Amino acid sequence: MIRVNLKIALLLTCFVVMLVMLSLWTRCGEVVHARGGMNSDWDSKKSPNMQDTYSGGEGAEHGGGDVQGYEEIDCNINGEFTVSCRKEGGEVYMPFSFLHKYFEVYGKLATYDGFERFEWSHSYSKVYYPKGKYDSRGVFMYFENYNVEVRDRVKCVSATEGVPVSTQWESQGYYYPTQVAQFALSHYSKNLTEPEPRRKVLEDGDKEMAQWSVPQGGSLTRETDSQTASVVVHFSSPEMLTGGVTLKLDHVLDFILSLNLRLVGNGSFSITLQSREKRELFYLHYICSDLLISAQDQHIYHGIGHVTGWRRMTRDLIVDLQKGLAYEGRAKRKLSRSKLKVVGLTFRGQGYLDNLTLSSSEHLAHFYDAAHWFVKHQDPDTGGWPNPVRRRVATGMADLEPGWYSAMGQGHAISVLARAYHHSGGDAQYLRAALAGLRPFRVASADGGVLATFLGKFPWYEEYPTRPASFVLNGFIYSLLGLYDLKTIAPPDQAQEAAALFEQGMVSLKVLLLLYDTGSGTVYDLRHFTLGAAPNLARWDYHATHVNQLLLLSTIDNDPLLAATAERWIGYMSGKRAAHN
Ligand SMILES: *[C@@H]1O[C@H](CO)[C@@H](O)[C@H](O)[C@H]1NC(C)=O
Ligand SMILES: *[C@@H]1O[C@H](CO)[C@@H](O)[C@H](O)[C@H]1NC(C)=O
Ligand SMILES: *[C@@H]1O[C@H](CO)[C@@H](O)[C@H](O)[C@H]1NC(C)=O
Repeated sequence: MIRVNLKIALLLTCFVVMLVMLSLWTRCGEVVHARGGMNSDWDSKKSPNMQDTYSGGEGAEHGGGDVQGYEEIDCNINGEFTVSCRKEGGEVYMPFSFLHKYFEVYGKLATYDGFERFEWSHSYSKVYYPKGKYDSRGVFMYFENYNVEVRDRVKCVSATEGVPVSTQWESQGYYYPTQVAQFALSHYSKNLTEPEPRRKVLEDGDKEMAQWSVPQGGSLTRETDSQTASVVVHFSSPEMLTGGVTLKLDHVLDFILSLNLRLVGNGSFSITLQSREKRELFYLHYICSDLLISAQDQHIYHGIGHVTGWRRMTRDLIVDLQKGLAYEGRAKRKLSRSKLKVVGLTFRGQGYLDNLTLSSSEHLAHFYDAAHWFVKHQDPDTGGWPNPVRRRVATGMADLEPGWYSAMGQGHAISVLARAYHHSGGDAQYLRAALAGLRPFRVASADGGVLATFLGKFPWYEEYPTRPASFVLNGFIYSLLGLYDLKTIAPPDQAQEAAALFEQGMVSLKVLLLLYDTGSGTVYDLRHFTLGAAPNLARWDYHATHVNQLLLLSTIDNDPLLAATAERWIGYMSGKRAAHN
């Protein structure tokens, strides 16, 4: 033991010294004075980055003198291999690239305040300190920073449902309740944190505002819709993808399209986007089909299903374009909002439209699309939102078969529905779905629920209801937040179940919490205990999630364990460790 510790101590000394030295070296002039001159050819072949630091006649400036400050020396690492290092007097300096790999620490050269330095960081993730007590009606954690739909593992945003389709575990795409909920919670949170949107109404039926051009054999009239009692546009043209009733535009910056649409038969509509530099045209087609997305050349297709009757659609045109290009394997082309404009809109077939708008954002529309998805796709018997993919969590655990429920998905969905119930001013469908969503929390994993029990005693809500249990920490805490949201927002006489589940979960959390503490980081789950396997260390972003969750919980529960643990775990992110014997 002692030998190992000594070696680690030695290496630690080396790299700390190396850091100091690097930061000194990089302060060009000053340093060279302090150190009595330096070989200006230092390492010019091996390290082009560092070379810059010494170029530009420093040698001359400092008058040559003692230029050779070091000797090459081999460092033998645990008797296993050798690394070329430098020795200067009694000190040894190791290359950072080696230290980076060996200790998984991060570093980069950065210039500011007039000089360059080397910045070392022990971890790469961010701690979000809560601004106040967590409010179930407010921003969810720090999700205003999330952009769920632009993630690579999102195939597209379904034009039938208005929610993201995941490819994380199955490439053809599926609805992943956890992701749908994160999409909703991020838009809800952005609504509360972002500036007011710009909105331009292009057509609302009432006034002759838009200059439509109508093809031969087509028509466009304004009439009062009997169902909604508002004046709407009635369009008619051949169904083919060329031609149609068209509106020419020249609109920059705002790319969220929304409209009320009612198609009679097989209509479709298309948006033409143009890149402002190359004047290249892209066509987004929304067609009557169950197809999720497809693309060919400049043409991208999203299926809007076969809905009859009025529907409200909200599309982020840039996301739809990006997902189309990614579908074609052209994802590397990043066409940003600033590089594009909307140049045209075309409607085909027979139908009615109203409230045609381009906006800078429509966060609540996305939020309600997702809230509605949860109402529509809940299993009426079990209250669950099924994950339709097979999932292997760890070797030695039975696969989760398609249809499994996740406590995290349930909890996230409940966080969405509780907010929808609150924001809609008490729309009962959201409360009903949220309350029904509690059912799997009482059903054991083995029986299709999400409940595990630690040592037969402490209930735990499983992100992955595996056998044996996995006890994933972050998913459990997310599920607790969902329970807390419902207990807070539901009318008092309907909040007891969520409250009871939350309270018993908090008891378990406090009992089990320190089982996740390694003294220098955290573990993601307890598979080492339940499977008898190696621990599954949490990478830094999951560790940071643990920290952020504890910080948030400590605003609603003043047990010092939560805050003290969060503080210690924050320390691990800058290299602090628990004391050893
Ligand atoms: C947020 O939603 C409110 C309605 O609840 C709306 O008036 C406001 O414009 C929205 N703001 C943003 C930034 O989306
Ligand atoms: C819509 O198009 C499909 C396929 O092209 C066709 O089978 C169907 O009959 C059409 N429906 C109507 C109402 O025109
Ligand atoms: C268009 O928006 C107005 C105002 O929100 C609404 O009253 C009307 O019903 C909408 N049109 C349709 C067809 O839903």
